[in-house]
Amino acid sequence: MLTLYFSGTGNTKYVAEQISEKLEGICHSIEDDIDVVELGKNYKRICVCYPIYGSRMPRIFKEFVIKHQELFHNKEIIIIITQLIASGDGARAFIDVFPKNYFQVIYAEHINMPNNVCNFFLLKVKNGEENNKMLARADKKINKTCTRIKDGVIIRRGFNIVSRALGLLQGIFENTMNNKGKSIKTHAACNGCGLCVRHCPMKNLHLDEKKITHDDNCSICYRCVNLCPQKAITTFFHTRPRKQYQGL
Ligand SMILES: Cc1cc2nc3c(=O)[nH]c(=O)nc-3n(C[C@H](O)[C@H](O)[C@H](O)COP(=O)(O)O)c2cc1C
Repeated sequence: MLTLYFSGTGNTKYVAEQISEKLEGICHSIEDDIDVVELGKNYKRICVCYPIYGSRMPRIFKEFVIKHQELFHNKEIIIIITQLIASGDGARAFIDVFPKNYFQVIYAEHINMPNNVCNFFLLKVKNGEENNKMLARADKKINKTCTRIKDGVIIRRGFNIVSRALGLLQGIFENTMNNKGKSIKTHAACNGCGLCVRHCPMKNLHLDEKKITHDDNCSICYRCVNLCPQKAITTFFHTRPRKQYQGL
């Protein structure tokens, strides 16, 4: 099995690597410099993992799968998404960008993971041991998922009518998110260290004479917001974070 994932702040990387290891496959980030279509020819089964943003795929992941569409043709597909609380039809959203019956979805699952939106007052950021309980639950679900896949059990979380309705409701924020994604803001505390520029998966950020500039191409992954040593860059919400998510 080939596992391909995108992870903004580490949660999905953690889940993807666990699943790949337990199912004895190989695992790559979509940010890795590999010929993914060539690699995919060796595998009958592909597992895709992505974090959910308002019941939808992150734009970076959506663009990747559209660009490499043929990679998935006639394969057995496992879809694993990570979320904080709920995402309606987050896993099902993957199939939206493909023609009908392009592949067979043999398993789909949603796994709850720690919060990475560090600058929204309703959501608390927890790090290290504070996340132990949640991670223990996630580990349990990962194990159960892998056992079921090995046993040939088919579960498609997010594919029923209720999930679809919830997903459509959350999906109305997709455009808002994409528009908001254009609004990267750097605050006065920015000292132009360039860490965000080096880590941006969209190559959306640039350093111009110690000042951060950006294209309108943010995927809202929150990596920069959580990494900045000065807590001086924000996207989507523009309150400066008090505490950042350190990832896994
Ligand atoms: C822009 C954005 C939107 C999100 N929307 C949702 C959501 O609708 N439902 C949810 O449960 N979690 C949501 N989350 C939380 C993430 O999906 C979750 O923390 C995920 O595990 C992060 O994965 P990563 O560390 O691999 O990037 C959102 C996170 C971000 C950054």
